[in-house]
Amino acid sequence: MPKNKSGADAPQAAARTRRGPKKILVLHGPNLNLLGSREPEIYGCKTLADINRRLIALGKAAGAIVVCFQSNNEGALIDRVQQSKKEQVAYLIVNPAGLTHTSVALRDALAGVAIPFIEVHLSNIHAREPFRRHSYFSDQAAGTICGLGSRGYELALQFILQQA
Ligand code: DQA
Repeated sequence: MPKNKSGADAPQAAARTRRGPKKILVLHGPNLNLLGSREPEIYGCKTLADINRRLIALGKAAGAIVVCFQSNNEGALIDRVQQSKKEQVAYLIVNPAGLTHTSVALRDALAGVAIPFIEVHLSNIHAREPFRRHSYFSDQAAGTICGLGSRGYELALQFILQQA
């Protein structure tokens, strides 16, 4: 792995800010706690714990802190977004799940904290039922990844880790 002037691994240095390690919050919406058994032909076989474990490990290897939070409750997700401002979260990865297509309130929470976020969906929401094609989040997201399964989360994290 390439080293920088201080001898640290380059990706680790990239993931640190002047105030310490970069903190990234991964937010999972309703029913994603069922991953692994929920419609595996659409969402894959990995559990949420598998996905979170991988993201935390990738973050750690790059010197960043990855925190994961899932809730079936819209209010709890909004509270967690608001809290992320106080915790100096640098970036969010958000899979709003079913709330993608309904939640003005969660959208407003993300706009309210003004922390950049990437929207991730395991499935290709544009290739499914018409009601899944509209997202309340995409126009505010730094980017959107959908249809790549759990790899989508990893690619989002890689992108964030490469940001200054
Ligand atoms: C989802 C897609 C949504 O339409 C659905 O309601 C989900 C999961 C995805 O990751 O593919 O719960 O966000």
